[in-house]
Amino acid sequence: MAERFLGRRSQKRAEAWKRHFERHRKLHRQLRAAAGDILKSPNFNSTKRYIQHGNMTVNAHSMNVARYSIAISERLGIVCRQEEMIRGALLHDYFLYDWHKKDSQNPHRLHGFYHPGRALANASKEYSLTPREKDIIKKHMWPLTVVPPMCREAWIVTAADKWCSLLETFGLHRGHGAALEILQRPGKDCQEESGG
Ligand SMILES: [Fe+2]
Ligand SMILES: [Fe+2]
Repeated sequence: MAERFLGRRSQKRAEAWKRHFERHRKLHRQLRAAAGDILKSPNFNSTKRYIQHGNMTVNAHSMNVARYSIAISERLGIVCRQEEMIRGALLHDYFLYDWHKKDSQNPHRLHGFYHPGRALANASKEYSLTPREKDIIKKHMWPLTVVPPMCREAWIVTAADKWCSLLETFGLHRGHGAALEILQRPGKDCQEESGG
């Protein structure tokens, strides 16, 4: 009896892991399809050297923001230009310096205000950005940057960035997986859970 119970439990756990793995793989395929060039670029990979929040690198943070942006738009059924949204999300913090290392020349005192402009300048040098991608990068710190986003892709990335920053700042980024799971669950699962 106990063996059968344990067997069922480990089978359920294995199925949950399989689903989690498949969703993660699907997200990664979407990132690669939209932005394979960015993911492979040495400069984007150099962001693995800089810390963003807590112990999360800028690279890992940007990847998380892109994954959340996809999950939010699909979950809420928001029609958007997914490729531009992903590319903007990956480049939104492309400022390419360590904002924790301050010196007299670069005190980074107003990093929060200035880094979107710096990210946009860096990204524009390497990629031919669309107006949507520019809007995503430039406005992602709204309301700090006063002028609000002008397209839905930028609103989604702004929301995803705030959520990821919150989890990462408080060291809760292990929660990324769980929250992404909920966002990506097909509607059928939710109806079953709510009894609807
Ligand atoms: Fe940022
Ligand atoms: Fe960010």
